[in-house]
Amino acid sequence: MCGIVGYVGEKNAQDFLISGLKRLEYRGYDSAGIVTLAEDGEATLIRAKGKISNLEEKMAKAKRSDKTGIGHTRWATHGEPSERNAHPHKAGKIYLVHNGIIENYKELKNELKDFDFQSETDTEVLAALIASFYKDGEHPLLNAVVQALKLAKGTYGIAVVSENNPDEIVVARAGSPLVIGVGHDETFVASDASALVGHTKQAIYLNDGEVARVTKNSVEIKTLNAEPVSAKVEEIETNLAAIQKGGYEHFLLKEIMEQPESLTETLRGRIHKEEGTVRLGGPGLSEAELRKIKHLVIVGCGTAYHAGLLAGYYIEQFTPEITIETVIASEYRYRHAYIPKDAVALIVSQSGETADTLACLREIKKQGIKTIGIVNAIGSTIAREVDGGTYVHVGPEISVASTKAFTSQVIAMVMFGLTIAQAKGVRSSMLKPYIDEIAVLPEEIGKVLEEATEPVKRIADKYKTYEHAIYLGRDTAYPTAMEGALKLKEISYVDANAYAFGELKHGPLALIDDRFFEVAFLPKGDLYEKAISNVQEVLARGGKMIVVTNRDCDLAVEDVVKITTDIEIFAPILMNLASQLLAYYMTTAKGYNVDQPRNLAKSVTVE
Ligand code: M6R
Repeated sequence: MCGIVGYVGEKNAQDFLISGLKRLEYRGYDSAGIVTLAEDGEATLIRAKGKISNLEEKMAKAKRSDKTGIGHTRWATHGEPSERNAHPHKAGKIYLVHNGIIENYKELKNELKDFDFQSETDTEVLAALIASFYKDGEHPLLNAVVQALKLAKGTYGIAVVSENNPDEIVVARAGSPLVIGVGHDETFVASDASALVGHTKQAIYLNDGEVARVTKNSVEIKTLNAEPVSAKVEEIETNLAAIQKGGYEHFLLKEIMEQPESLTETLRGRIHKEEGTVRLGGPGLSEAELRKIKHLVIVGCGTAYHAGLLAGYYIEQFTPEITIETVIASEYRYRHAYIPKDAVALIVSQSGETADTLACLREIKKQGIKTIGIVNAIGSTIAREVDGGTYVHVGPEISVASTKAFTSQVIAMVMFGLTIAQAKGVRSSMLKPYIDEIAVLPEEIGKVLEEATEPVKRIADKYKTYEHAIYLGRDTAYPTAMEGALKLKEISYVDANAYAFGELKHGPLALIDDRFFEVAFLPKGDLYEKAISNVQEVLARGGKMIVVTNRDCDLAVEDVVKITTDIEIFAPILMNLASQLLAYYMTTAKGYNVDQPRNLAKSVTVE
């Protein structure tokens, strides 16, 4: 999704803006732009369609030593990706970059009849509105922005500069993140703290409804109603290594391979194998409150939703008298679902900024239900708005396809389920197998990645020309199949869909022909034999099947990925590693952009 950066200080603004925009590339974008201001206010505006390298080429011919500026990567919502529609947008002497959507831009545009609009964007309308309110006086830019925002409806994170005020930036947010980095004689602005890493560790996260005037050594924040806000400075924990490829060709491969370490971080201080207990501080629920929980609502989108589904299957295995509903946030926010008072909602999001998930969180809170975040991005909006939470601590996930977050989200939720079970007095002998397996899971993940990489790479090469795939599983292997299909489709553009094995005969079996390959997950367990019968049904119809299993497999299938492990309960999580690798290697074999698949963004901050 769109990204914002800004700089005001003693150094070259163009340098920071370009490096900051590159840090935000992973979020997905289709055009980019920067504007910088010289001391006398002269502006240099550069915009380009496509990659930041295109912007850099243009910048090489317009090098400036200006010390104030703002920049943007745009992911088109209103108007096609083009230079004309790229930000910053100019209105008079005002330049604006904007993340989000101004919903009433048409009405506002009608009121601004005299303005000669150059683009199709909602952002240019907001820029023109700000320009229309600009009047000399104290803090004229800040006042103009406040007046304009009082009329704007929708979501925004914005940064604004004016040729008349070349030593300040005005920023504001409503539903789209903005962080201010405080340095020595320099202040940074970004929509994502990763742009600030290496420049400063001191950050102020703006809240919805706040606006700030930023100079090189001051940050004044107030609400749109002019109430002053005292800034809370927080530490940025991310380091540079965490946002670099570290010798890997792609972030995706790095993130798949670092799962032994990232899961270890999720477990740190929380899982106590010797005692056979789990301790989570973050949710902040007392034993009595945990005991009272009768329902869990798990909310997420995409991979976070799949993580919630899988965790739900596990939690209901060991937590008595509890019902679990895992829901897709974009659907749930408009349902009229009744949530019983003895429920707790788990809000699952890697980025902590997903618009639909955030909207659900707010709706659920309105109903007086306790909300617990299962979030990765520290200081993100969801993390700040939930009542309590468990950070998954996997470090920055840069590749658009979510991998390491999934593994840790599932386990973080299972650990939360275990704390409920402990409080409800479930026998420790019942919980021990879960705790024992979680404790060794990071090591087992390491072994599986080592064992499976080469075979999966060969299989990916064999199927690289296929355009259709079916993923199949039962029970805990079903959400695993769903996640595998999502991974393959989003980066390799193979039309991959997942079905519960039992559903095959109800329709999908009709699809099987030589245009498809199938991926079946067959974990050991009570339902193994049933799944085998389903495999036979597919083979009998000429299916070309890849089986992923932790059992010896003598089925007459095309390919087998053997998962050698003593782990049984969480074998589907290990099998999911094979899916991640298959998606990765299919995509590299096809020659597509692994980390930034077409049409997608890392953090979906619009509805
Ligand atoms: O940041 P979130 O976890 O809230 O993101 C949710 C989805 O947008 C995300 O998981 C998406 O489905 C991924 N691209 C899947 O790999």
